[in-house]
Amino acid sequence: MTGELRIDLSRLMGRLDVLARVGAIEGGGVCRLALTEADKAGRDLVTGWMRDLGLSVTVDGIGNVIGVRPGRRDGRPVMTGSHIDTVRTGGRYDGNYGVLAGLEVVQTLNDAGIETEHPLAVGFFTNEEGARFAPDMMGSLVYVGGLPLEEALATAGIDGATVGAELERIGYAGPAPVGSPAVRAYVELHIEQGPVLESQGLTIGAVEGVQGISWTEYTIRGVSNHAGTTPMAMRHDAGYAAASIAAEVRRIARGMGGDQVGTVGALTLAPNLVNVVPHTAVLTVDLRNTSEERLQEAERRLAGFVAALAEEEGVGIVARRLARFEPVAFDPAIVARVEDLARRHGHAVRRMPSGAGHDAQMLARVCPAGMIFVPSVGGISHNVREHTDPADLRAGADLLLHLLLDLANA
Ligand code: GLV
Ligand code: MN
Ligand code: MN
Repeated sequence: MTGELRIDLSRLMGRLDVLARVGAIEGGGVCRLALTEADKAGRDLVTGWMRDLGLSVTVDGIGNVIGVRPGRRDGRPVMTGSHIDTVRTGGRYDGNYGVLAGLEVVQTLNDAGIETEHPLAVGFFTNEEGARFAPDMMGSLVYVGGLPLEEALATAGIDGATVGAELERIGYAGPAPVGSPAVRAYVELHIEQGPVLESQGLTIGAVEGVQGISWTEYTIRGVSNHAGTTPMAMRHDAGYAAASIAAEVRRIARGMGGDQVGTVGALTLAPNLVNVVPHTAVLTVDLRNTSEERLQEAERRLAGFVAALAEEEGVGIVARRLARFEPVAFDPAIVARVEDLARRHGHAVRRMPSGAGHDAQMLARVCPAGMIFVPSVGGISHNVREHTDPADLRAGADLLLHLLLDLANA
């Protein structure tokens, strides 16, 4: 009976467009770093849409916002969602697409007068990106009990503000207990953010899991001195040490090959002047691999290099772990269902791992979870040029609709 049911693409595109105007930046991108004024404005907008659609909205202690649509039976909802925070140079689809497609599914069901057996829920989780506060996926991690609320609230960000104070300031330190409602199953629709689907001419990715993530911040302390008068052999150069770590991260990832990737995405030097040997450098390292053993191998190699470098350059290097998540496997039945539904909808589909982190990997700790990917043009994301063709946005949202119907009527 619901076989022909489809979402309204122009309505979905309309909401994506309106949300993308909040925190819009040059080039069509978006900057809504977690818990900033722009994030608050985005939250207010999406929460308003949830209420307009008749959802019962709750906000929990870490600021996760969840809207529930009742089913014929009470009990745990089948949930979809994602995040609406962005990196500083974000696109309009990362996270937002999954949340707004969830709302579009709800509106489609409302319009068609379709009731599901179990309740449905659409949520957005706080600070998925981790660009302002580490770790990433913080809201969903707290939701599943992987990080104590108090610890999350005490986390200081790159600007020194804490999660707790910022949640209070923007009015999203909610009264709902974290982890409620308990979830029957969780599925997340997301852009791929990589080149695989597009390059293989595929429309849908049935995501089998998420690779492991290791984030470390290194603080290097050397000695400032005059750039012209200090002999090379007498330097304790924090800038040189930072650059060496960045180069080594690249060497390790290239040398290990396979799925290993490594990134130095943030680097600051002090005093950061042309003619002064830097006394301090702070940099971040992001290592990822689909294999936990291989990821540990990359971590070991880097740690060995850093220890030797500190000795050789006569600098102090302190490592601080920002995030560490093992690879996650999604529920095989949900993966198979995504694949099967995609085929039945006439879409070319493959199974694939996710290179990016997602809230679904946290929800997978407490319920059957899975993800649907659609192609990213040029494989570009965390960039204002991030784009997905509307036909692919539709394909993914229609698939989400039918996947949610299956799960909520099972
Ligand atoms: C979070 O989105 C990440 O994968 O960095
Ligand atoms: Mn995302
Ligand atoms: Mn992202």
